[in-house]
Amino acid sequence: MRLLVTGGCGFIGANFLYAMRQRHPDWQLVNLDKLTYAGNLGSLRALEAEAGSAYVFIHGDICDRDLVSALLAEHAVDAVVNFAAESHVDRSIDDPAPFVVTNVLGAQNVLDCARRAGIKRVVHVSTDEVYGSLGETGQFHENTPLAPNSPYSASKAGADLLARAYHETYGQDVVVTRCSNNYGPYQFPEKLIPLMYTKAIKGEPLPVYGDGQNVRDWIFVDDHCRGVELALLKGRPGAVYNFGGAAEMPNIEVVRTILRLTGQNDSLIRFVTDRPGHDRRYAMNFDLAERELGFAPSVTFAEGMSRTIAWYQANSVWLDEVQSGAYLKFMDRWYKERS
Ligand code: NAD
Ligand code: DAU
Repeated sequence: MRLLVTGGCGFIGANFLYAMRQRHPDWQLVNLDKLTYAGNLGSLRALEAEAGSAYVFIHGDICDRDLVSALLAEHAVDAVVNFAAESHVDRSIDDPAPFVVTNVLGAQNVLDCARRAGIKRVVHVSTDEVYGSLGETGQFHENTPLAPNSPYSASKAGADLLARAYHETYGQDVVVTRCSNNYGPYQFPEKLIPLMYTKAIKGEPLPVYGDGQNVRDWIFVDDHCRGVELALLKGRPGAVYNFGGAAEMPNIEVVRTILRLTGQNDSLIRFVTDRPGHDRRYAMNFDLAERELGFAPSVTFAEGMSRTIAWYQANSVWLDEVQSGAYLKFMDRWYKERS
């Protein structure tokens, strides 16, 4: 397999690259990443050192038609997994434009270049947020109508519809995956779990939006990566698969878990103004992925959180480099070493 992974310097993409390298050492891995604020070359140092020529990094934009077409041909790519995206809801509320550019136009460009190059399969990585918000009961199924509430989720829904259209119109082999909230190593500390961890270890206040009762379904990143791998290897062309962690929880409970694991107490919690358009509850039904792909989450929330906190404790340098902005300089070094 010669696999193009886009957005591989981000949180899930990096975990996916490590997992594929471990499980499929014979695969050629090509990582295309624009290195936005969320892309961190430092996350892939170990992979670069260990994999040699079996791993290639290309600095570029999924919106760049000439670049994407050229690298599909040059690397004789068999399949594409598109992780590249603007991924943070709060940033999409501040400025939706880059979300539309990368998440809609970029995704369309990936689909189109892959179609023209005759790529065997594209896995488009999407999110449960495209379904909108649930009340106290019920779950999202793959045929739940899309009802996105943030500019981020609207842009992801746009790409999902394009993926569907490319399959229906051109017969392109596209599989869409929709996953719930991920956590684990290498997650940028703007997302709930690493943000609360970084504040807790410094004894700073933890900002909980609204009443803290918004519910998310948490999945350890390795389980999501396994789901994407199964979709790549066994997915039905044109199918959409939900993945979840079977770990629904109000935010306040997640925050209390972090306080407990870092030896802090609840006095650090601050309830702050709610996020506009804040989805109340997500819950995933992933029976289809269980049935067709053999997917099941294997890491409990308790185990995943201990592993995550232990990873951040052991990798304080990674976190410091992100927080100081030093990680942004890795690109200069990367270019210097290769020029
Ligand atoms: P992330 O923000 O950590 O990483 C995104 C990566 O994409 C970064 O490396 C960034 O540099 C790169 N990128 C952004 N724009 C690009 C462009 N135009 N061209 C090339 N690269 C670009 O995101 P993440 O949390 O790892 O999420 C990865 C994917 O999974 C996204 O598509 C997201 O919508 C989806 N997803 C995330 C979660 C979650 O909980 N984090 C859950 C479900 C689905
Ligand atoms: O559900 C999948 C989605 O999960 C992905 O598609 C997104 O890319 C990813 O960012 C994530 O979106 P959320 O908005 O759910 O994640 P976030 O970590 O931003 O917030 C999780 C919950 O915690 C949400 O209900 C908002 C709340 N929150 C978040 C932050 C950053 C707080 O209460 N305080 C905070 O400071």
